[in-house]
Amino acid sequence: MTFCAVVVAAGRGERFGQPKQLVEVAGRPLAAWSLATVGAMPELGDVVIATEPQSILTFERLAREFAPRLRAMVVAGGATRQESVARALAAVPDRCDAVFVHDGARPLLVAADVRAGMAVTASGTGAVLAAPVADTIKVVAPDSRSVVRTLDRTELWAAQTPQFAMLADLRAAHAAAAAAAFVGTDEAMLLERAGYRVVVVPASGENFKVTLPGDRDRAEAILRRRMGVPASAAAG
Ligand code: C5P
Repeated sequence: MTFCAVVVAAGRGERFGQPKQLVEVAGRPLAAWSLATVGAMPELGDVVIATEPQSILTFERLAREFAPRLRAMVVAGGATRQESVARALAAVPDRCDAVFVHDGARPLLVAADVRAGMAVTASGTGAVLAAPVADTIKVVAPDSRSVVRTLDRTELWAAQTPQFAMLADLRAAHAAAAAAAFVGTDEAMLLERAGYRVVVVPASGENFKVTLPGDRDRAEAILRRRMGVPASAAAG
C-alpha cells in the first residue's frame, strides 16, 4: 500500500501572535522538523504541503532541503484547517492509496509513531495518534461557566496528528462535511461522522502542537536534548 504525507502549515497563528509555521525552533523553521521526519522515511514517496500563499516558494525550498528524496507539492491553504486539508487532499497524486495528515506545528513527531499508524491503516481503518487524557475534563456552560458534567477520564484520549486514512475514505468524508457545511477540528471527526471506523494509536512520547509562545521554548528544549545538545550550551 502506498502512503502519502500531507503536512498542513497554513493559518495566521492567532493564539501564537504571528504565523508560526516558519518561526525558528532549535535552528530550523518549525514546520521543517516534520518535513525532515517524513523525508527520512524510505517507505514514503510524496508529500503535499498546504501553507499561506506567500509562503509557497519558501516551503518548496524547505521541502528540497529537508525532504529531498520526496516529490513535494505545495498548495495554498484555506481559512480553516479543514479547508487547508481539503485543498491538500485534492493535490494528492492518485498513486497514493492512503494518506496521513500531520500538523506542521507538531515538530516532535517520530517516524516510529508514523509507522504505527500506517500499520493500522494498512487494514483499511482510520487511525489517529493520541494520548490518554491526564486531567479531569469538565463540560462547562459557556456563559455562566457552571460545570454541566464531568466526563469519565478512563475513556478520554487527546487526539494529535498524524491522522491516517484510505485516500478515498478521507476525500469522501471531507466531501460529506463540505456538503453539510460541517467544520470539524480534525480528520477523525469527519471520518467518524461519515461512518468510518477510526482507531487510536498511542503516541510514544511528547507530540504537542506549538500553540502558545511558551510551547516553542518547550519544543526547542526537547529537540536540542534529542540532538544531544544541552539547553544551556544551545542558549549560550
Ligand atoms: O491553528 P492550529 O494550531 O489548530 O493549527 C493546527 C495546524 O493546522 C497547524 O499546523 C496549522 O499550520 C494548520 N492550519 C492550516 N490552515 C489553517 C489553520 C491551521 O493549515 N487555516
